[in-house]
Amino acid sequence: MKLDIIPVKWSDEGVLMLDQRLLPTEEKWLTLRTYNEVAVGIKDMVVRGAPAIGVSAAYGVALAAKTFVGTDITDLEDEIEFASDVIGKTRPTAVNLFWAIDRMKRTFLAAKDAGKSVIEIKQILIDESKAIHDEDIEAQRLIAKFGGELLNDNDSVLTHCNAGALATGGVWGTALGVIRGAVDQGKNVTVYADETRPYLQGARLTAWELMQDDIPVTLITDNMSGHVMKRGDIHAVVVGSDRIAANGDVANKIGTYMVAVLAKRHGIPFYVAAPLSTVDMNCPTGDDIPIEERDRTEVTHVKDIQLAPEGVGITNYAFDVTPNDLVTAIITEKGVARAPYVESLKAQFES
Ligand code: MRU
Repeated sequence: MKLDIIPVKWSDEGVLMLDQRLLPTEEKWLTLRTYNEVAVGIKDMVVRGAPAIGVSAAYGVALAAKTFVGTDITDLEDEIEFASDVIGKTRPTAVNLFWAIDRMKRTFLAAKDAGKSVIEIKQILIDESKAIHDEDIEAQRLIAKFGGELLNDNDSVLTHCNAGALATGGVWGTALGVIRGAVDQGKNVTVYADETRPYLQGARLTAWELMQDDIPVTLITDNMSGHVMKRGDIHAVVVGSDRIAANGDVANKIGTYMVAVLAKRHGIPFYVAAPLSTVDMNCPTGDDIPIEERDRTEVTHVKDIQLAPEGVGITNYAFDVTPNDLVTAIITEKGVARAPYVESLKAQFES
């Protein structure tokens, strides 16, 4: 394994993002010089995946401070509020976005209360955004370790969407981190990747990412997962999450719920891997999680090719919620949480 995919980086010129819209056929990096550009990058899926969105949002707020021209701390505060608002309006389901913005705002207020100057606060916010990134990578490393221990030698694992290094601060990933963790522990693991319609994160990103690390991967269309489970070809399902409610209900890429139901039917463990920054203790249940709806063309078209008749009715829910009774365990950087999640997740925050 190379373990070298880091999809977003801070640089003196601005925020660098690997343009995930172009993968797997082109590897192109964009330099985003303003917080507005970062917000557009998140909304347009240059970067995607909940933890990667969180890291990018933190860098966006840091960029707003860095590019601020002036010496008045109240004006800087207004600028940070405004930038946070713009960035916060990009993707409603991934809670890491709001978690990272809140943390950056709290850091600003603490620095202001401590009497720091505008110049000092700019550096403090840049340092905080880098810390959020470093901590995310460390959380994925621990998820990989704890999750890897749940898999057995020669397991074949089904995953949905892309919950890999590309979807996080980088290196390990969450669901793919669990797989990388098992491989790192010397186990043979093979992967089935759902293509993940409509945006095809599985086909475009998961397949590419695993091939970079020489982990054997077989791509299937979404409607094949029941058949491969019934054949006995799947030993575990591992997915990531965009937001986990306090009761363990899991929002993840559309189609995850179907996979969880199928896993239950076939007695296959269904694991969710996510850092605690994805757990929203302010959402009591999955019913409280806002579900993003995206542009109709993602369903009617693949790139420029039209698949459906002009004018057909469309819904394009980007996420669904898997009820906690279908979830075998939730793997975080603190360990493996099991039902009842209201207690086990709370205990992880307190540990
Ligand atoms: O719409 P996306 O590509 O941002 O959705 C991503 C997912 O649903 C991932 O599974 C989730 O964010 C977990 S990423 C570690």
